[in-house]
Amino acid sequence: MQTILILNGPNLNMLGQREPEIYGHETLEDIQKLCEDKASDLGVRVHFRQSNHEGELVTWIQQAAQTPGPYAGLIINAAAYTHTSIAIHDALKLLNIPIIEVHISDPETREDFRHTSFITPVAAAVYKGLGANGYAKSLEHISNLIHTQ
Ligand code: DQA
Repeated sequence: MQTILILNGPNLNMLGQREPEIYGHETLEDIQKLCEDKASDLGVRVHFRQSNHEGELVTWIQQAAQTPGPYAGLIINAAAYTHTSIAIHDALKLLNIPIIEVHISDPETREDFRHTSFITPVAAAVYKGLGANGYAKSLEHISNLIHTQ
C-alpha cells in the first residue's frame, strides 16, 4: 500500500482554539482522523505530522526525497512558512513525487502578506478556503495522480 506524507506547519497544533472564526472548530486531531478515514476509502496510507519548526519540516521533506522513496506523494500546509520559507521551497524541489498545497482558509482573500506562496510554484495543485475538507480533496487528487502515473 502506498503512503502519502501530510505535513502541517506552525500553529496548526492550536486549531480548535486558534481564531475559530477563520479556521473553524475542528482540531488537528480531527483533521488527522478525517485524513485517515479518507485514505482508507482510497486504499492508501497516510503519515500525518505537524511541527512549529522550519528546520524540522525541511528534514522531513529531505527524508521523503530519499531513494527508494518512502512516500508516493506529499500534501503540505506550511502555514505561515508558506509565505516566508525559501528553505521549504528548496527542499520541496528535491522531490520527484507529486506535491499538493493545502490551506484551511483562503490566504489570498486575507492580508497582503499572505498573498505570496513559496509552495505554489512546486505544487501540482492548491486547495484553499475549503476548511478541513481541503485535506480530503487533496488526498483524492494526489491519489488520482499516483494511480495514473
Ligand atoms: C494557513 C494560512 C496561513 O496564511 C496561516 O499563516 C496559517 C494557516 C491555512 O491553513 O489557512 O497558519 O496555512
